[in-house]
Amino acid sequence: MVDEAELVRKAVEARKLAYAPYSRFPVGAALLAKDGRIFTGCNVENASYGLTVCAERVALFKAVSEGAREFLALAVACGKGPCAPCGACRQVLYEFAPDLLVIMADGEGKSWCTKKLSELLPHGFGAKDLHGPFSQDYNDFTKV
Ligand code: THU
Repeated sequence: MVDEAELVRKAVEARKLAYAPYSRFPVGAALLAKDGRIFTGCNVENASYGLTVCAERVALFKAVSEGAREFLALAVACGKGPCAPCGACRQVLYEFAPDLLVIMADGEGKSWCTKKLSELLPHGFGAKDLHGPFSQDYNDFTKV
């Protein structure tokens, strides 16, 4: 069983570390790995705005770089109402956890709602799409 309240609490804590001087929109995330570890992340902005990284991706990249590859749930906390991960983060999360439980909370963790990542990103792009007959006909990358 996923302890939703605990994950939301961790996302709220992580949000306090956000570096968001440009948007002034701090976001926190907490990602539960299958082995029980929880990885947190916050958004990290940049004066070159497009280089900003979202809280969810910071949490995921921290996790993968620490050896975690399977995930059960992610909590994200921001704003006044439950906030949903952006499209780019949905795709990056889909790579590792198409069935992820996504817990979307307000910035203070007072309320939240849940959805499966597969509901937030139907027909996500994955490895299965790369290795179909079409891509092999087009070019044989195994020879590179
Ligand atoms: N942001 C996230 O961290 N996660 C999301 O899913 C949506 C947006 C950040 C990026 C930027 O620092 C700020 O929120 C405003 O877009």
